[in-house]
Amino acid sequence: MRQKLVAGNWKMHGSQQMVKHLLEKMLSQQAPSAKLLVFPPYPYLSQAIQLLAKSEIGIGAQDCSQADEGAYTGEVSAKMLADLGVSHVLLGHSERRQYHAETDALVLEKAKRVLAADLIPVVCVGETLAQREAGETNKVVLQQLTPLIEKLTLAQLQKVVVAYEPVWAIGTGLTATPEQAQEVHAFLRSVVAKVDKELAAKMLFLYGGSMKPDNAASLLKMPDIDGGLIGGASLDADQFLAIGKAAE
Ligand code: 13P
Repeated sequence: MRQKLVAGNWKMHGSQQMVKHLLEKMLSQQAPSAKLLVFPPYPYLSQAIQLLAKSEIGIGAQDCSQADEGAYTGEVSAKMLADLGVSHVLLGHSERRQYHAETDALVLEKAKRVLAADLIPVVCVGETLAQREAGETNKVVLQQLTPLIEKLTLAQLQKVVVAYEPVWAIGTGLTATPEQAQEVHAFLRSVVAKVDKELAAKMLFLYGGSMKPDNAASLLKMPDIDGGLIGGASLDADQFLAIGKAAE
């Protein structure tokens, strides 16, 4: 059985006050049996690590550099994130792909750094509306996943989490139906199964895109949906925990 993982991507939202309020509220409520994870912006990672020190809630960063260290002004390395105490790093989010021209090759380089730092990469894949309407969904997600499958070792792949986030569902209020999401998740798992069946059975595939308390249960009960990557609703402790409970 794969334990469900419900992760909150806060994107570029928050302040020290908001982080304190949100995390303290989460801590004051009963934790769901699903594993919870939050991805605060870089400046608030330390604060979140301190506030969550005694809890089971994991902490991840939203991105990292493809370089190890050196003259890369403005960048943050996977090694620094490991030093700080985060456990996960989000990679290849569609907003990074869209606004920072991140390619699949770059995402692979970053994934290697994350793994070398002994952290878990959460790699996002997903098609745009035009690609879905053109019937290219599987082709697109396959293209995004392939470099990882081809270039990482089996031992490295065992640590990778994949998040399917259809671009048209992110922040739009449009959600993939449970059947649509399940179809892509099953396809992604079948691609991994061609490399290694046992790996495919263990790998976590999260769904992201307008997941809210009222649609979470129907998505999370699908056989190949192992959790959620939540944007907007993760900024509200009640909503985020309700999604965590829906995963039980
Ligand atoms: P929303 O839940 O706001 O649609 O965001 C999804 C997302 O991009 C999480 O990474």
